[in-house]
Amino acid sequence: MKYAIIDIGSNSVRLMLWADGKTLFKRVITTRLGAGLAQSGVLSQAAMERSVSAVVQLCGEAASWWKGEAFKTRAFATAAVRRAQNGGDFVALMRARTGLETDVVSGEEEAKLAVYGALGVSDGAVLDIGGASTELCVREGGKIVVSRSLDIGAVRLYDLCKDDKDKLLAGIGEKIAPLPPCGQPLTAVGGTATTLAAVQLGLEQYDPARIQDLRLMLTDVEALTERLLSLSAAERASLKGMDPARADIIAGGALLLLEIMKKLSRAEIFISDRDNLEGYLILRGLL
Ligand code: LMR
Ligand code: MG
Repeated sequence: MKYAIIDIGSNSVRLMLWADGKTLFKRVITTRLGAGLAQSGVLSQAAMERSVSAVVQLCGEAASWWKGEAFKTRAFATAAVRRAQNGGDFVALMRARTGLETDVVSGEEEAKLAVYGALGVSDGAVLDIGGASTELCVREGGKIVVSRSLDIGAVRLYDLCKDDKDKLLAGIGEKIAPLPPCGQPLTAVGGTATTLAAVQLGLEQYDPARIQDLRLMLTDVEALTERLLSLSAAERASLKGMDPARADIIAGGALLLLEIMKKLSRAEIFISDRDNLEGYLILRGLL
């Protein structure tokens, strides 16, 4: 079976094309669906329009990729739609404009998506720093022993704290306090982590093969975070490896990753380009 899977996140809308057990193509459009949600509790009309338009565009890209061959499209949404008071309006707008039913995943499912995507059925711990939420999922002895979703992410931090380090640290400290200790090797998925990896490598062009399983040391993440915090968003946008659409929110996201590594006593973290898009196929039994 051929699939087009669409992940509607708080920062971005992403597409994965999948066939014959392989990821063929991924694409991301930054729409900031969750912008302002931290203060207002609702998705703005403009953000909903931008995000649904991105889905329409990605559906068109999927159709032209497969040139008339049959494929199935599935769309799922994460923390922004789950939490917003008007998340139902977004689901209705999606239905009206695209004919797609949006699968709004729970926090626990969102955590599992990351572990299924990055590790398949192997043991380990996976962290997904998103726009409105951050998930930690741990599998030990073949069983999921932790699947936590925290009310914090790169867009949310930017909305509430901009680049104010003290404010960021206070907000992060409070939200990550409930994270349980875990002994498994830690892998990170999601745009914050993969962008930090691409900047660390100085990639002119994003290359999933170079990102997959890249190891970043705590000292690397510390240095990257300090560097990003010391630059303006415009300066960050011109760094090699940076996605310019993420330049404003990346410093807070980097600090969040750093603080979680410290909280979990990690000297290293592995980065995975395989993420919740691949995980969705497993979670919903589509393989
Ligand atoms: C999100 O929550 O938007 C993420 O899935 C991806 C991102 O762009 O950080
Ligand atoms: Mg996400």
